[in-house]
Amino acid sequence: MLDVSGIRSMHLKHFGDDPRVFLAPGRVNLIGEHTDYSGGFVMPAAINFGTLAAVSRRRDGRTEIWSENVGERAAFAPEEMPGKRDGRWWDYPLGVAWALREAGVEIPPYSLTLQGDVPLGAGLSSSASIEVATAVALLSLSGAEMPREQVAKLCQRAENVYVGASCGIMDQFIACNGKEDHALLLDCRSFEFRLAPIPRDAGLVIANTMVKHSIAGGEYGIRRREVEEGTAILQRHRPGIRMLRDATPEDLENWGAEMPDPVLRRCRHVITENLRTVAAADALEAGNLRKLGDLMAAAHVSYRDDFEASCEEADVMVEAAQRLRGLIGARLTGGGFGGCTVNLVEQRHAEEFADGLAEQYRARTGIQPEIYRCHASAGAHAVEEPG
Ligand code: GLA
Repeated sequence: MLDVSGIRSMHLKHFGDDPRVFLAPGRVNLIGEHTDYSGGFVMPAAINFGTLAAVSRRRDGRTEIWSENVGERAAFAPEEMPGKRDGRWWDYPLGVAWALREAGVEIPPYSLTLQGDVPLGAGLSSSASIEVATAVALLSLSGAEMPREQVAKLCQRAENVYVGASCGIMDQFIACNGKEDHALLLDCRSFEFRLAPIPRDAGLVIANTMVKHSIAGGEYGIRRREVEEGTAILQRHRPGIRMLRDATPEDLENWGAEMPDPVLRRCRHVITENLRTVAAADALEAGNLRKLGDLMAAAHVSYRDDFEASCEEADVMVEAAQRLRGLIGARLTGGGFGGCTVNLVEQRHAEEFADGLAEQYRARTGIQPEIYRCHASAGAHAVEEPG
């Protein structure tokens, strides 16, 4: 649970100053997986789990960060500031401060308190929510204005270069730009986006397989390299393909035979996923939830069979959902190899759906899942002093 007055008193207790508080959400991706880093389409929604960042200026030149989740303080005199990652939790906030400074933002010495409730390693973008919460807090302290798109890009840079995880732009972008009750269709090349309302009678049920997902793990990077390998083959024939996003199913028919087996299937997933994602946004805007659900189901099959980024537990969770009353669409969400499934469910059946899903999953795997009934939420913002 996020606790705004709690983080204020925590900050006051640790640092003796009254802070300003900011919130950035985690996200669930409805459709469009492993498409962002090749310039394609994604359709996430911000969720009502997130990270609070409380910030105040220091007068002694030091940087101090308290993590309420870890229960630990990171404290640095100016000459002790690490120039690169330590492999510890503070890499994320320090990486963001580093990226902002590189972009010319003058950040004064600061105290920062972080508290979050995004489940860790669940594929719901806890990292991006920490990065974006830190970024908006430090920007406010610096008095600097920055467009949201640039905030997202700098947070991605912090994660890519400082933390050393090769993520795309989706998570940071939605943490910056999410909107209450809306999903966001993002073109990851032009950064144009449109918001599509999620109808009130449809609910988001997120089901945690409890299998830990990590994008720092090897598989995410392997998939990225396979996608690049396939793109290079297509580019030899059609130089107009700058990124895999430009390729069509016909390109794959013409030249896919030149790709080694897993590479062809990885590219087929990405190319068809882009088509499904744009169609899914159209379906959502047209109120055609049945179509959206079918596209989510097809996306899961493609993620499982062609991209091979699912896992047995996630497949069980999706199959179980398909047998329950009220399901509109279900698929594994996020970077893959574990984490959560996203279930779009008729609101009036959501409660029995959530119970049934937990029961079936437990019966088939012996694992007690966590089920979160969520709603699409706003992107990063300042949190007002309560009452
Ligand atoms: C992780 C990355 C994103 C994206 C997804 C897969 O969440 O951080 O950039 O690549 O995996 O869609």
